[in-house]
Amino acid sequence: MVQPNREVATLWYKDAVIYELHVRAFHDSNADGLGDFPGLTEKLDYLRDLGITAIWLLPFYPSPLKDDGYDIADYAAIHSSYGTMSDFRRFLREAHHRGIRVITELVLNHTSDQHPWFQRSRRALPGTPWRDFYVWSDTAERYQGARVIFKDFERSNWSWDPEAGAYYWHRFYGHQPDLNFNSPRVWRAMRQVVDFWLRMGVDGLRLDAVPYLHERDGTNCENLPETHAVLKRLRQHVAARYPDRMLLAEANQWPEDAAAYFGSGDECHMAFHFPVMPRMFMSIWMEDRYPMVEILTRTPPVPDECQWAMFLRNHDELTLEMVTDEERDYMYRVYATDPEARINLGIRRRLAPLMGNNRRRIELMNSLLFSLPGTPVIYYGDEIGMGDNIYLGDRNGVRTPMQWSADRNAGFSRANPQRLYQRPIVDPEYHYETVQVEAQQRNQQSLLWWMKRLIALRKRHQAFGRGSLDFLAPANRRILAFVRRYGAETILVVANLSRYAQYAELDLSEFRGRVPTEMFGATPFPPVGDAPYFITLGPHSFYWFALSEAATEQQPPSSPTRKSRAE
Ligand code: BGC
Repeated sequence: MVQPNREVATLWYKDAVIYELHVRAFHDSNADGLGDFPGLTEKLDYLRDLGITAIWLLPFYPSPLKDDGYDIADYAAIHSSYGTMSDFRRFLREAHHRGIRVITELVLNHTSDQHPWFQRSRRALPGTPWRDFYVWSDTAERYQGARVIFKDFERSNWSWDPEAGAYYWHRFYGHQPDLNFNSPRVWRAMRQVVDFWLRMGVDGLRLDAVPYLHERDGTNCENLPETHAVLKRLRQHVAARYPDRMLLAEANQWPEDAAAYFGSGDECHMAFHFPVMPRMFMSIWMEDRYPMVEILTRTPPVPDECQWAMFLRNHDELTLEMVTDEERDYMYRVYATDPEARINLGIRRRLAPLMGNNRRRIELMNSLLFSLPGTPVIYYGDEIGMGDNIYLGDRNGVRTPMQWSADRNAGFSRANPQRLYQRPIVDPEYHYETVQVEAQQRNQQSLLWWMKRLIALRKRHQAFGRGSLDFLAPANRRILAFVRRYGAETILVVANLSRYAQYAELDLSEFRGRVPTEMFGATPFPPVGDAPYFITLGPHSFYWFALSEAATEQQPPSSPTRKSRAE
């Protein structure tokens, strides 16, 4: 892989565009109805062409698959349905050859109850090291301050194990017992897991459900100092041996608590920004920038080497844990009119259906994802506007096969359709005969091509991944406007959250004399003068303007040449 310099190489995650996928859902090479590593490897050229720079793989380890692989039964092997370890190594090598990094899951908090560790623990005598691998209790009364996360499925975080004659603690499903991080053996076991994958060349680890590692009576058992101590230790271990690797915290918390997972630059390199996500959906529905601006303004600054991971949708429900009760009611009312769309504290829908399949809205949401501070994470299939199936159980409706073509099984698999792990989407509006890669590759006006141009443009400007953020405050609240600055780059983003045309007057006095140049078309706009900058925007449209010093000297050409266009 060619890297311009060391600083860029170690901070690669700041300039990355991450693509999240499940190997099971991507491409099936051996016609058994499930995606696999050889299939994914065949599709690497598609991902390179899309322009993404890192793949985040959902769990692919041996597992009873009762929580789609987050119930791990062996941390150092590959689920036989997805291929072999040598298939994985080949995939990793091929991804690296194409300049694509690979981020895998590190599920620290819990295992499957089928994991040999749990099997030993439940049989071990109380007080022995094996028993101490998990969190056991004689009563189900401890840690009452901890909420139940999967509230549609579990009533308590304790389950009785007849074999052990004791209760065990689990923050998620009852078949996912929590490891006991008070045990030094658990830490050592996890360290070995980390070494196993990082030595092989994996570039980053997503730390699943990381706020819940420790529990303590009298607390809500989230974000405890003991948990942060584990992460500091993990970071030291990784930094000493694998300096260019990245740790990404999945901490579904308010901004202050999520930012704590950066430590003072000595815990995780990245953390998901959970609270901004539902507020982007609120802002576009309310046609008001307030929800987004409010949450981003109260987001603490992050240490220099750290970075937020931004996302619109992922493999889980659109979580509404980090919103107020009123906001949640609002979100349910406008985005989950069918009660089937609700699950736990969230909404199980993909991006396109949430946006009413409106191309302008989909583009606007992506433009925000790609221009706000942080690294964007795309959920597989959202680049072609895939639909969902809310009638499938759990969160399976957003985990259906990738739609490659109009062929049988959406080109995902040559298996008998009855053998597929799940049928592709056949909803008339999102049917795979219409919404699929092959058709969109042929049409340069498709969403897929639009996403390619968006990704390519973002990658040319480090200000998006690294720059500061300053909001403008035009009187028209339907307009969101902000400035990103990094080194010599200054980028102005103006977005119309409304479904109707809008105008705004922007205070650009600081940039007097500069020529805003629309970045997709390299089109110069009138220079900034003494008066407020007057701008009009069509429904749900947005502009990215370069305001760099150099732009001042440019003479506006009468019309942009084809060559100068971003595409
Ligand atoms: C993952 C979920 C999973 C849960 C339990 C979450 O954070 O994203 O998909 O069910 O952890 O492992």
